[in-house]
Amino acid sequence: MKQSDIKKIAVIGAGDMGHGIAEVCAMSGCTINLYDITQEFVDNGKRKITQSLEKQVAKQKMSQDDFNQIIGSIHCYTSLKEAVSDIDLMIEAAPEVLDLKKKIFREADGYAPKDAILASNTSSMSITGMAEATGRPDQVAGIHFFNPPAMMKLVEVIRGDTTSDDTMNICYEFIEGLNNFRGAMVPVRVEKDTPGFIFNRVNAPVGLYMAELYDKGFVDPEAVDAKIRSTGAPMGPYELMDYTGLDINLNGMEYSRANLSPEFKPSGWLKKLNEAGKLGKKTGEGIYKWPGGARPVIDMSKADPNFDVMDVVCLQVNEGTKLLEAGVAVSAAEIDKAMIYGGGNAFGPFTLAKDMGWQKVAERCEAISNKLGIKWFLPTETLKKGDIQL
Ligand code: 3HC
Repeated sequence: MKQSDIKKIAVIGAGDMGHGIAEVCAMSGCTINLYDITQEFVDNGKRKITQSLEKQVAKQKMSQDDFNQIIGSIHCYTSLKEAVSDIDLMIEAAPEVLDLKKKIFREADGYAPKDAILASNTSSMSITGMAEATGRPDQVAGIHFFNPPAMMKLVEVIRGDTTSDDTMNICYEFIEGLNNFRGAMVPVRVEKDTPGFIFNRVNAPVGLYMAELYDKGFVDPEAVDAKIRSTGAPMGPYELMDYTGLDINLNGMEYSRANLSPEFKPSGWLKKLNEAGKLGKKTGEGIYKWPGGARPVIDMSKADPNFDVMDVVCLQVNEGTKLLEAGVAVSAAEIDKAMIYGGGNAFGPFTLAKDMGWQKVAERCEAISNKLGIKWFLPTETLKKGDIQL
């Protein structure tokens, strides 16, 4: 199979990520089989795609003919067997439960054409584990989009332990051929199957840091978000947690706790909000209120003068050096690229921290680690030695 052979795609799961992935692939000329477990779920996904594209037509950014063609190329399924029977590529975007994902891969492997590539949009889970559930482990990879796929350009292409070079190259070139509303998608190679891959992994200590600060009553989320927004970031970290979903955040924390360190223990407030069904944007309330899905209005005058954004950047750099040490990312520049296009930022953490000097970045991580009693934040040897090429 070649990249140009990828014409028909099954997107498994029509939720927040699945419908956005289907939209981007359909806009780029692919035929989509959109699957979910009930007709209601799959219709809901197609309705969101329709609404999103209708806005483009209303703004005269898309012709009515293109709209009709794209919508006509998305077909809805509630049978996995039918959804994958004639595809070139599957992109699974089911809930973040590894056993569920393995079950989907096992079943899809039995029904999909033998040369089809089976990929997962998981945020952090083991691609190798999903590959093991199939009889084609060399044709399984990660293809990880960012929320919302129609606006965020990054896609991580992830190599599991058994993924072949051909599969990696086909997936990478396929992503290079996709466009969302902001232009060409930007693929980044993740060369080893590690929890959180690049973007979510570099942000994992930030999530832990923010959770701890809030838990200990050291910060007001709105004041931190206002401070971070004042640097040009499109969203502050607490609003982003709400935006992507506090259930996703809790699952991610649990996964990091099991696979990175017991220090990634979900905070009391995160568990409480989850138990109360306050999951953020999707339920209308989380850390903030999201009336009808509308973004919370952040009072920028509240920006916390004592919150130093460089603390966050230093933690990101330190985590990034762990990915360099492990050979997950090929360079610091590639990590910066992922952080720019995955989060809509102007610069990546290595570029932002470079002028501080790596020694100072290491000292800052050590100080944060001591303040909160979290060993995960301790600087790596690479950072302490300043062994970073940029
Ligand atoms: N689909 C299509 N278009 C959308 C959209 C969506 N879901 N959301 C927003 N848009 C469009 C709007 O129509 C609008 O278009 P226009 O400029 O042509 O009028 C434009 O985006 C701007 O939208 P808004 O004015 O409503 O709001 P913003 O300017 O704040 O943009 C945002 C929204 C693009 C989400 C921006 O806030 C942003 O970039 N936020 C950061 C998001 C981020 O960091 N994502 C990564 C999360 S981590 C992740 O996904 C990992 C995963 O594993 C969990």
